[in-house]
Amino acid sequence: SNRTPLMAGNWKMNLDHLEANHLIQGLAMELKDHDHDYSKCEVVVIPPFTDLRTVQTVVEADSLSIKYGAQDVSIHDNGAYTGEISTAMLDKLGVTHVVMGHSERREYHGESDELVGAKARKALDAGMTPILCCGEALEVRKAGTHVEFVLGQIRAALAGWAAEDVAKIVIAYEPIWAIGTGETATAADAQEVCSAIREALRADFGEETAEATRILYGGSAKPDNIKELMAQADVDGALIGGASLKAESFAAMARFYA
Ligand code: G3H
Repeated sequence: SNRTPLMAGNWKMNLDHLEANHLIQGLAMELKDHDHDYSKCEVVVIPPFTDLRTVQTVVEADSLSIKYGAQDVSIHDNGAYTGEISTAMLDKLGVTHVVMGHSERREYHGESDELVGAKARKALDAGMTPILCCGEALEVRKAGTHVEFVLGQIRAALAGWAAEDVAKIVIAYEPIWAIGTGETATAADAQEVCSAIREALRADFGEETAEATRILYGGSAKPDNIKELMAQADVDGALIGGASLKAESFAAMARFYA
């Protein structure tokens, strides 16, 4: 495909700014390995808000090709929204990607598909790449309705969107039962849902958009299972949690494309 692969490391609520500095420096060292061409894929780290300035400083000082994203964003521009972070604030820090709809935010913060869609719209309007997460719980998987469930999440979030906007977003399929559990979806499981997502994009937004939109897999992806997962036709990269907290393992995974 013509899609640029994307390897994104979601640090979640881990690492203070000193630890973040250590990890980003370590990653910079790894990516300078001249036996590999990491420019063949987009490498993105997604630290907590409090680490963004640190990451920006290192990335800019070393002119690294690493990009960085935020784990959430407000749908408001500014004002009386205690605890929220705006797209303008992120933009000032050089943020290029924003995650929304992660299952942890849906579960612990009650985020609806509609809110997730509004956040994606907000990020896109600010010139950033939304990484829209979806994925089913174990009960849904057991009932065999996972494809329907995931397509429902995406269709609700992207209702009314123009095809050319959908082509700019990234969708991350993360089965909840595989997140942080060590239980990875099989490559066939990942491909089944990622291809169904692409089919739905084709039906709703047309061929060009379906071919352009990147779809990632997430959930216990590690150096020893990354090859199989990334080799699937409709999987364009990974959203990596735990294994992105070590420079060596994250770089080893990005190396699939390098
Ligand atoms: O955003 C990342 C996913 O939730 C996957 O996390 O790789 O620790 O399972 P994990």
